[in-house]
Amino acid sequence: MNNKKLLHALLASLALGAATQVLAHGDVTPQAVNTAELEQLGEEWRDENPYRAPSEHNAKAVEIGSSAYTQNCARCHGLEAVSGGIAPDLRYLDAGIEGDEWYKERVINGAVRDGRVYMPKMADYLSQESLWAIRSYLESVAVEE
Ligand code: HEC
Repeated sequence: MNNKKLLHALLASLALGAATQVLAHGDVTPQAVNTAELEQLGEEWRDENPYRAPSEHNAKAVEIGSSAYTQNCARCHGLEAVSGGIAPDLRYLDAGIEGDEWYKERVINGAVRDGRVYMPKMADYLSQESLWAIRSYLESVAVEE
């Protein structure tokens, strides 16, 4: 190997190392969610799930939220919202506006303690519409504690 090749190999392995490290710290590859069929909400976050029944958008929100959940949350929170133990089981979130408050707090701020990212700030990657659609899906599979 000449010096140039050696340098390239070194740089490549450094880049790989960096990538692995980012992944280990809760890197997010957000999957686009098409929410065109839902009521558009603007920038300001609502305090309450705007797609909850009797909203006419509820059924569509549950459908969109189901696939958006699978693509963006399931790897930590479990397939079909059944937690495998890595992260809380979201079927047990409180119903109604109380659950909404906690849900909103978490998806906006994530969970970061001592510089460790336990949950990324999902609202940096997904729209408010997508995240309320996911909340609607979670409510459709909720179980009482
Ligand atoms: C990288 C893993 C990861 C991803 C991806 C992730 N979460 Fe989380 N989530 C966590 C962890 C871990 C916690 C617990 C945080 C703690 O210990 O404070 C959590 C907590 C939560 C909570 C609070 C639950 C409770 O019972 O207190 C909500 C709500 C939540 N996540 C929603 C979501 C949604 C919705 C998505 C997808 C849009 C998502 N999360 C994606 C790891 C993740």
